[in-house]
Amino acid sequence: MNPIFANLGTSVFEVMSGLARERQAVNLGQGFPDDPGPADVRAQAAEAVLSGWNQYPPMMGLPELRAAISAHYRRFQGLELDASAEVMVTSGATEALAGALLALIEPGDEVVLFQPMYDAYLPLVRRAGGVAKFVTLRPPRWTIREEDLAAAFSPRTRVVLFNNPLNPAGAIYDRDALALLARFCVKFDAIALCDEVWEHVVFDGRAHVPLMAMDGMRERTVKIGSAGKIFSLTGWKVGLVCAAPPIMRVLAKAHQFITFTTPPNLQSAVAYGLMKEDSYFAEMRAAFQRSRDRFSAGLVARGFDVLPSAATYFVNIDISSLGHDDDVAFCRWLVKEHGVAAIPVSAFYAADAIRTVVRFCFAKHDATLDAALARLDNVARLSQLSRRA
Ligand SMILES: Cc1ncc(COP(=O)(O)O)c(C=O)c1O
Repeated sequence: MNPIFANLGTSVFEVMSGLARERQAVNLGQGFPDDPGPADVRAQAAEAVLSGWNQYPPMMGLPELRAAISAHYRRFQGLELDASAEVMVTSGATEALAGALLALIEPGDEVVLFQPMYDAYLPLVRRAGGVAKFVTLRPPRWTIREEDLAAAFSPRTRVVLFNNPLNPAGAIYDRDALALLARFCVKFDAIALCDEVWEHVVFDGRAHVPLMAMDGMRERTVKIGSAGKIFSLTGWKVGLVCAAPPIMRVLAKAHQFITFTTPPNLQSAVAYGLMKEDSYFAEMRAAFQRSRDRFSAGLVARGFDVLPSAATYFVNIDISSLGHDDDVAFCRWLVKEHGVAAIPVSAFYAADAIRTVVRFCFAKHDATLDAALARLDNVARLSQLSRRA
């Protein structure tokens, strides 16, 4: 068997979910919303199952969805994308990432990865024959430093896999950071594979800026979005891929032989959803922001050191101020003794892990968040007492 997958152990996500079930914990480890998602979008999908086309749709995606993707990114991000040559639909962002890595790199090519990183990246890069070069981001700001880019890029760099907004950090990169990264991509003639699945889940009036919009990047960027994140329907697995035609032609070949296509009913519902009025997107953001604020305020009131969360469904705490330096041990203790499941952020690093940050998902009903907070009542105080003892 191939050792890259055969040697992957049980992930910390599975371990924490298992412990959460065993202890009947409030599970703030898993990253999906309690809310069932917009009723009209789900109704469109149901109607399309009953009355619509249920055979293979076109390989690149339904024409109406490709047109909707192009119009959507023009409206929200100022991009001009030719729906017939620069847009493709995949079965989730994950398929898009896997296909792009298979399509773009040859064995021995270097791939720059920013850690913390989404867990799928590294096995996929390695399985495609890529050699990973890491840029380590550090709390509380997760800043991209020029010297770290200079150390990671080389003439062998083929792809830069960049996640913005960044899960698990809850960080969003502004134009200055994007311009810095763009300079390196241009200088080393690298393709940017941009995982922008969190592009709509941004807070405090911020707007997501796609790396593709920066100088020199239009022809060397693969932009990946996910309807699952845009519509709080994480199980839907409808990925939105944009790239200039020479790149797209190759991505399409990989897609052709991985999944070929994506359920047509979900595609037609996503086409409907992407054309919804601005207020839908604003209200979705406002609702998550309210949950973020409610949960963060509760954590602060209980003595936790809360890191800024500008985007995503996640907020992090820094446990070093409580005297802890092992996030995995902390999370195990938290779920076993206090009945709240969270995720240790060290799980998102492959080397030189930061071990003092713990991630909570706040995309939950108020009652769920309040139940978790009640269980966290004495955690900070107990930590401080045991530190003094
Ligand atoms: C950074 C990142 N990329 C990709 C995905 C997966 O997206 P999809 O469900 O569309 O495959 C997630 C899901 O949490 C994510 O956080």
